[in-house]
Amino acid sequence: MLRIEKLVTRYGSIEALHGISLSIGANEMVALIGANGAGKTTLLNSISGTLSTSGRIEFEGKDIQQMKAAHIAKMGVLQVPEGRHVFPGLTVEENLLVGTVASKGMRLKPGNNSEDMEMVFAIFPRLKERRKQLAWSMSGGEQQMLAIGRALMGKPKLLMLDEPSMGLAPIVIEELFEKIVEINKAGVPILMVEQNARLALKVSDRAYILERGIITAEGKSGDLLHDPKVHEAYLGKTVVRVKNKENVGKEDE
Ligand SMILES: Nc1ncnc2c1ncn2[C@@H]1O[C@H](COP(=O)(O)OP(=O)(O)O)[C@@H](O)[C@H]1O
Ligand SMILES: [Mg+2]
Repeated sequence: MLRIEKLVTRYGSIEALHGISLSIGANEMVALIGANGAGKTTLLNSISGTLSTSGRIEFEGKDIQQMKAAHIAKMGVLQVPEGRHVFPGLTVEENLLVGTVASKGMRLKPGNNSEDMEMVFAIFPRLKERRKQLAWSMSGGEQQMLAIGRALMGKPKLLMLDEPSMGLAPIVIEELFEKIVEINKAGVPILMVEQNARLALKVSDRAYILERGIITAEGKSGDLLHDPKVHEAYLGKTVVRVKNKENVGKEDE
């Protein structure tokens, strides 16, 4: 569904991505793991069309590498940015409505979007409880849910999440990641960028490891989780317990 070949991205004269190849299949959750500064956000922004690139980026068989960002979003490639960036002075409901504009270019018409909003509320009941609350007054975890909910309003065909766990407490991350898996299981392919490698490998099907603009390892997440090299470089202490993809929604043994 997404296929990237030999992608190169530069900031002026500085090359940040040096020929990335990567693919995401239908219904897959793929993790992109790497240290701070590795180029993870650059890769997402390259796919979204906000940076100029060379190489090939194909989405559902179409070459999108030269397309404008607005057009790529309309095709259903939607990104939840690092640091969430909800609109602080808008309510939960208003923030969600903005999500429809970004992807479809529609006018804000609350009545027309109630079905989509109910779909978001079914996944994030907390947002329904707080629908009239201003975004700035919500916790970090709730703001992340809102940022994801806003992207869901655009009916993503590929959802890209940039460091969803950043700055959140372990118990909040656990809840959030179960929701992310739920979204994926409902049929939305996900590309998830994370510095928290253990977490990302636990919930994803496959993963790529990005180091200084190059993919240095890739494979099934379960295999990478047990790969000694990956272990040494990226998997320190266990910080958060999450269920793996198969077990979300099931009771603990
Ligand atoms: N707007 C920019 N201008 C110049 N260099 C940038 C810019 N954004 C990121 N970089 C550089 O590109 C590299 C990758 O950054 P980034 O994609 O943000 O990494 P990550 O998301 O993995 O932390 C870093 O060396 C960073 O300094
Ligand atoms: Mg980043």
